[in-house]
Formats: sequence, structure tokens, C-alpha cells
Amino acid sequence: MPKPHTFKAVIPVAGLGTRFLPATKALPKEMLPVVDKPVIQYVVEEAVNAGLTDVLMITGRNKNALENHFDRNFELEVKLEEKGDEMRLERVTRSTDLAEIHYVRQGDPRGLGHAVFKARAHVGNQPFALLLGDDIIDAAEDLLIRMLALNSSTGACVVALMEVPDDELGAYGVAAVEPTDSVDVVRVTGLVEKPLPGEAPSNLAVVGRYVLVPEIFDVLEHLPPGRGGEIQLTDALQTLAVKPDAPGVLGIVYRGSRHDTGDRLAYLTAVVEMALDRGDLGPAFGAWLDDFVDARRGRG
Ligand code: G1P
Repeated sequence: MPKPHTFKAVIPVAGLGTRFLPATKALPKEMLPVVDKPVIQYVVEEAVNAGLTDVLMITGRNKNALENHFDRNFELEVKLEEKGDEMRLERVTRSTDLAEIHYVRQGDPRGLGHAVFKARAHVGNQPFALLLGDDIIDAAEDLLIRMLALNSSTGACVVALMEVPDDELGAYGVAAVEPTDSVDVVRVTGLVEKPLPGEAPSNLAVVGRYVLVPEIFDVLEHLPPGRGGEIQLTDALQTLAVKPDAPGVLGIVYRGSRHDTGDRLAYLTAVVEMALDRGDLGPAFGAWLDDFVDARRGRG
């Protein structure tokens, strides 16, 4: 079985970000800042913290800013060096030195399953981690590390699951599950992409972290379009979950904090929560926020 440090990470970033127009007309949604870092950097840092330094991004048109962000910016570096501004220089070079980042274009936007299939040549015949570029998982949690370890010990695909309210299930892939002997680990017996009201098999939604086995590529290669006319990763996982000779699918039920920065309301809460958690900004921002809320209440 491979050790966690041999896993590659795949991050699909080809989505159009229409929920954030007009901000995302010329800017990739993954470049929206949460406090002072673009969303994508949090995701790459999460992969690196789990020991994954080979990162493949599945990109599309209009995504050059992403490549620039992880490349060097000599002009800026020289200016900051001349000024002796070590702190800002470190901020600029951090994203460059973080990981070995590769890029492949998705071409036709035919869905998440299609984007993942584009990783086949780079990933090869090994299990790999898939991190969706919109989701920020609390940096203090070891979710991805636990998922990689579970794949290593079982050979199964592993998905991150979170309990969500009934009225939000239609936005996710939702899992039918059975308990296992381990706390917070479930066997996934079926998956439905974006179920209609009343058709969800449980309240456990797949959030944007997966450890996948290379057999997923064989399934994706022949998969017909599913929900929304797109090639759905959820459908490929469903196939592996029910196929008798396949390694199966396990879920880790995650109870920590997660922000879907692709949704405007969740994005706003991400900015507020993560600013409050920051040592440099949190105290002053928190004090302002308390006053602001008090003033609002007073007026209300
Ligand atoms: C995708 C997947 C879905 C998953 C979700 C997690 O949907 O298709 O199964 O639950 O990510 O964020 P999307 O958010 O791209 O519509």
C-alpha cells in the first residue's frame, strides 16, 4: 500500500463561478480573497499539510491568474527585497514555494467526472486525493490525513461526509450508508447526485474532499452523462460502491468547520470567521464587529 506522502493531489478549478458575477467575469472564482489569501491557496496549503506536494490543477480558459499566483513575481520580489520588507516578501514567495504544481486544461466543461478523468495521465495507477477548489476545511483539522490513512489501510475510495439540513441536500451528492466498527467511519452503499426533495437516502452530503482509486478512471471513461447532462463523479463512485469486485467506498463523517466559498452567503461567513480567528486582525475586527452588532440592535 502506498504511504500518504506518495499520493498526488488533484484540484479541479475549471468552473465558471457564475454565482459570483460580475466579480468572476475576468477573475477566477478561486482567486477571490478570504481575508488576504485567495481561496485556492488555502486548498493547496491543506494538501501540503497532509504531505501532498505534487498538485495537479484541472483548469480552463480565463484561469491564468491562478498560474500567475503560484509562479514567481520577480518585479514585486525585487522591490520588496530593496525595501528590506521581509514579511511581505515571505507572503509573495510562499505560494511559489508551496508545492510542485502542474496544470492540464479540461477543454469542454462536461462536469466534475470529466474534469477528474483529465487527471488520469498525471496520476497514473495510484490512489490520489481530490480537493474541490471552492471548499475551505478548517486548517486545524486533520480530515485529509485521516482520509489518506483510511485509504491506505483498506484500499477503498474515501469521501468526506457532513450532516446537512434537509433543505440543502439538493445541492450535494448524498450517501446511503451503513455503520462500521470505527466511530465516524461509514460504508457507503449508494450515492445520489443532487437528490430531489424527499429522495435523499440520508442527511450525509459529500463535501469537497475525496481519496480515489485509479479504477475510478475506468468507470469515468464509459460513464454516460447524469444529473444536469454532466459526467458526474458521484455516479462513478456509486458504480464502485455497488460493484462486487471493486474496493468499495468508505465515508468519514466530518464534524469540523467547512466553508463553501462558491456560495455568496457562505463566502461572507468564511471571511468573518476566518478574520476573527486571525491573530493579527481578529481582536480589532472582533471589537469593531461587537460595536457594529450592538449599534444595529439598538437601532432595530
Ligand atoms: C460537487 C459534486 C457533489 C458534491 C459537491 C460538494 O457539486 O458534484 O456531489 O456534494 O461538489 O461541494 P457542485 O458543488 O460542483 O455542484
